[in-house]
Amino acid sequence: MNVFATRKLPQEVSDKLKQQVDYSEWHSEEQAMTKGELMDAIKEADGIISVLSDQLDAEVLASAPHLKVISQLAVGINNIDVKEATTRGVRVTNTPDVLTNATADLTFALLLAAARKLSAASAEVREGNWKSWSLLQLAGKELSGATIGILGFGRIGQAVARRAKGFDMNVIYWNRSKKPEAEVEIGATYQEFEDVLKQADFLVIMLPFAPELKYLIGEEELALMKSDAILVNTARGGLVDEAALYEALKNGKLAAAALDVFEKEPVPTDHPLLTLPNVEVAPHIGSSTLATRMEMANLTVRNLLAVLDGKEPETPVN
Ligand code: GLV
Ligand code: GLV
Repeated sequence: MNVFATRKLPQEVSDKLKQQVDYSEWHSEEQAMTKGELMDAIKEADGIISVLSDQLDAEVLASAPHLKVISQLAVGINNIDVKEATTRGVRVTNTPDVLTNATADLTFALLLAAARKLSAASAEVREGNWKSWSLLQLAGKELSGATIGILGFGRIGQAVARRAKGFDMNVIYWNRSKKPEAEVEIGATYQEFEDVLKQADFLVIMLPFAPELKYLIGEEELALMKSDAILVNTARGGLVDEAALYEALKNGKLAAAALDVFEKEPVPTDHPLLTLPNVEVAPHIGSSTLATRMEMANLTVRNLLAVLDGKEPETPVN
């Protein structure tokens, strides 16, 4: 069986693959493949290990006539045309669960960083602008007693809610379906979408991307939010209208934003959002702890080999 990975994987992972399949991989750990390079590389592939920057659309899938499995090294699969894959009899798998806690941690790290202005605080020390103690120096936003509104109450949304309870926050959520058991277990309350926007002191987006959710948070939605609220997005950039977010932050309609994801990644360094002091940013590293990333890689390999072996993968998408 011929397997291609669109990123260079750690040697202990690729060694395992080489024992079982005819394995090759892209030469870079961080540089994404172009569409042409990808189509060339997967002509003979029975299996692909893909990452979220690979656009596996109908045209790309058509270039891989032997393909049996796409094992995605991520939980989000919006870069894959799953419908087309299903039509072609190609199994798609992803990596849920193993990254839930790491992603919830990073979400909370960014939320805290925005609440307490950590980037500005760090810059003040490093740049020699720390004069003395002053009463309202870098005065931030309190978590205790504040309301966190979570849009999307899947595994990661619920893990964020558990952390919020540890910070004595009031937890409200919106999800397409209510989650009564999780509500009771965690102590969270379902609210209508607009009510979550209106009540949240911290609004955290924890939804998978789908075309109908593009710009779920745009000008109108931002206008419903409290002007001292903080928006956190560690899900997918396309869920937020970045131009509207910029205007809201610049004009004092929103206190701050913390973003691990962008509509275009890597985000260009001249992006207007990066000029604002009240924006915390990270380069899409939600799941990136060493333990979690290795678990994701190992799960990806197990899923891939299971399908090639004619077995049911652990975490199928289709
Ligand atoms: C990261 O964004 C993932 O989908 O795993
Ligand atoms: C999404 O897959 C989640 O785990 O919330």
